Amino acid sequence: MEKDFLSIADMTRHDMAEIFAIASRLRHYKYGRQLENKTIALLFEKPSTRTRLSFEAGIIHLGGSPIYMDASSTQISRGETVEDTARTMERFVDGVVARVFKHETLVGLAGRSRLPVINALSDLEHPCQVLADLFTIKEKKGDLERQKVAFVGDGNNVCNSLILGCAIAGAGISVAVPESHRPNDKVVSMAKKIAGDRVEVVTEPDEAVRDASVVYTDVFVSMGDEATRERRLQEFVPKYQVTERLMSMAKGDSIFMHCLPAHRGEEVQAEVIDGGRSVVFDQAENRLHVQKALLLKIFNLISYL
Ligand code: CP
Ligand code: NVA
Repeated sequence: MEKDFLSIADMTRHDMAEIFAIASRLRHYKYGRQLENKTIALLFEKPSTRTRLSFEAGIIHLGGSPIYMDASSTQISRGETVEDTARTMERFVDGVVARVFKHETLVGLAGRSRLPVINALSDLEHPCQVLADLFTIKEKKGDLERQKVAFVGDGNNVCNSLILGCAIAGAGISVAVPESHRPNDKVVSMAKKIAGDRVEVVTEPDEAVRDASVVYTDVFVSMGDEATRERRLQEFVPKYQVTERLMSMAKGDSIFMHCLPAHRGEEVQAEVIDGGRSVVFDQAENRLHVQKALLLKIFNLISYL
């Protein structure tokens, strides 16, 4: 791995295996001092429950100190450049976890400082989420190479990272999205280069979930898309909602996943997300273990475990 984690494609299958092995240990050995003397800034332009809490708790569990910065109360909101912000931050802290509107902001932060920068969600990707998701699938279903993941809904940031993450990890991925909301073209072609026809983008949810061991969805209105909310719901809900009927078209022992927060009655029926096949809260918990492992890997501290 390089200094930063901006895309799930910054990681090889070998890196993932190493992180998953450490994450499994951290589930049982929660506390340590590996991040002692490390101060990590969390710079967030958008709201968060899971990402903020799992990073803050994880850093504290390992003896480090997180500093949360709401971007709207920093000088960025008054026009200070990302580059100057990055050059200032590197004088005070050892790393940055950033949640931003534009992916280019992360690229700017990473490019203008020697600090490791971790993508805590951008308009393009949500790699920490997908790292935890792949770990969850492996724990629940076993060997990733034997799985087919179906993502149904909006071709958004989570979808982009899931496509790339599955391709790198060796899992099949079939995405069902409306023609007007396809995932990022570059992401799809990169994933196809890695995994060939194990990567598929279709418009029919029934087709995507056929033989799938995992059915995954995310909100139809992501942070930043609020202005098109009504139009999106009209387009998505009738065809792309994950219903009990859709789940019955997947494998009999398939699991339901969602990165959360969820909107019952929009992208998923309450019966599905609150039903026996749903693993969404284990999935959320795994953010903690996997991100702690990621921090140890990024700071080259694995041998101290
Ligand atoms: N899944 C996820 O990133 O949740 P938050 O927006 O609550 O951080
Ligand atoms: N796609 C969603 C994910 C939230 C964790 C968003 O960007 O709002």
